[in-house]
Amino acid sequence: MSNPDEKQPNEPLFRDGGGFTRRQFVQTSAAMAAVPLIISPFGGQVFGADELPPIKIGLVGCGGRGTGAAMQALHADDGVVLHALADVFAPKIERTQKNLSDGLWPKEEETDEDEDEKKEKPEKPIHPRCQVPDSRKFVGFDAYQKLLASGVDVVLLATPPGFRPWHLAAAINAGKHVFCEKPMATDGPGVRSVLESAKLAREKKLSLVSGFCWRYHTAKRATIAEIENGRIGDLRAIYTTYNTGPLHRNDRKEGWSDWEFQLRNWQHFDHLSGDHLVEQAVHSLDKMMWVMNGVLPEKVTGVGGRIAREGESSGNIYDHFGLTYEFPNGVRGFHMSRQIPNCANDNSDLFIGARGTAYMDWDHHKITGESEWTFDGKSNDMYQQEHDELFASIRAGKPMNDGDWMAYSTLAAIMGRMAAYTGRTVTWQEALESEEALMPGPDQWQWGSLATNPVPVPGKAKMS
Ligand SMILES: NC(=O)c1ccc[n+]([C@@H]2O[C@H](COP(=O)([O-])OP(=O)(O)OC[C@H]3O[C@@H](n4cnc5c(N)ncnc54)[C@H](O)[C@@H]3O)[C@@H](O)[C@H]2O)c1
Repeated sequence: MSNPDEKQPNEPLFRDGGGFTRRQFVQTSAAMAAVPLIISPFGGQVFGADELPPIKIGLVGCGGRGTGAAMQALHADDGVVLHALADVFAPKIERTQKNLSDGLWPKEEETDEDEDEKKEKPEKPIHPRCQVPDSRKFVGFDAYQKLLASGVDVVLLATPPGFRPWHLAAAINAGKHVFCEKPMATDGPGVRSVLESAKLAREKKLSLVSGFCWRYHTAKRATIAEIENGRIGDLRAIYTTYNTGPLHRNDRKEGWSDWEFQLRNWQHFDHLSGDHLVEQAVHSLDKMMWVMNGVLPEKVTGVGGRIAREGESSGNIYDHFGLTYEFPNGVRGFHMSRQIPNCANDNSDLFIGARGTAYMDWDHHKITGESEWTFDGKSNDMYQQEHDELFASIRAGKPMNDGDWMAYSTLAAIMGRMAAYTGRTVTWQEALESEEALMPGPDQWQWGSLATNPVPVPGKAKMS
């Protein structure tokens, strides 16, 4: 269902993230182990009961998240083999290869918490499954096309999101299963392209899993299920925050073209990241959309600006947003996000109902009111869960498709940005039909100059 106008208020467009649980995966694997021969999901090749048919993965975008995703894919299924790597910068490929071979999590993602997780992870000898020959390491803007032609079965898309609609379309057209990081696009035309790719993936029976990782977090799933089962009564309002510090940046070096400078600071430029609302705080808006269960916001009004970001390498994005989403059934969704140093940080979600309030942050999940509840189950590694479910779905021949909701959550963030940039109230339909293309197309993907948009001034900036 791609036209939101066709649905009635309160009617769910799609179900929860769905897919397989780890338990189902283990059951599937056990069932497979019980039969003497296994047929590869990719062609008729037959394997013995003790060997899993290989699933060849290719990573496009060898940065922090992409390397982590490749590691999780390798841990999800003992038959996963890293087949090819692609990036615009050759050293990034080598660093990913080394980090995976050494079994290390990439430096960017290392925190105290990750250190703990790393110690808990069972040692698995993944290095024999992640040796990519030089002939399958592809460099450049067209590296993704070479990777798609190299014989991969599954593609992990983890570049800056501006490229995502094209990379996703090419991957689905080439018949590949996909894990793609959030957000899915940085503008309305990109979202429409992602919806088309999602539809094609369904037709081709390909799995398409998103990096909206909170949908794969057991504690968040349990909390949202409690809300859906009525524990807080009718939902009245949602309040989400994503207030953090500033982003890392790289000053321009001699010899860097505009493209290189922007790619090395991609989070700071609207065409590549969509602004921090779309790139980072989209997680909070995705949770708003998740609890609304497919009921789409009619419109959004908001404020935003750029008060603390300075210098060329901080690009053209804002550093704070405040938004009010209006849903057709009277529910209001409020969101605040900020990336300014030395301020109060917060990343939490509040769901206010007629009979109670649900609260979630990284570690806490509880409901207060008439019927109290606290999550006391075991929390999981949501990044690993995404891949456990993806590869179990491929093994079982039961494709998962996050496509529609991942595109709509991205659009919710894009429409919030449009409202803040212009100062206007922006409707869902306007955002969905917008012709404003921030990201240049493949004909302009070449090292050289690239002009950027000025920082928008509300009341003056126009929407197209
Ligand atoms: N789900 C999460 O919690 C989470 C966390 C971090 C990042 N992300 C998302 O993952 C994506 C990547 O983020 P990151 O932190 O890994 O960034 P990063 O800068 O560490 O990595 C991006 C990589 O893509 C490469 N690249 C850029 N343009 C490319 C192109 N056209 N073709 C091939 N490679 C290209 C870069 O050289 C770099 O190696 C973003 O969409 C980001 O929002 C998600």
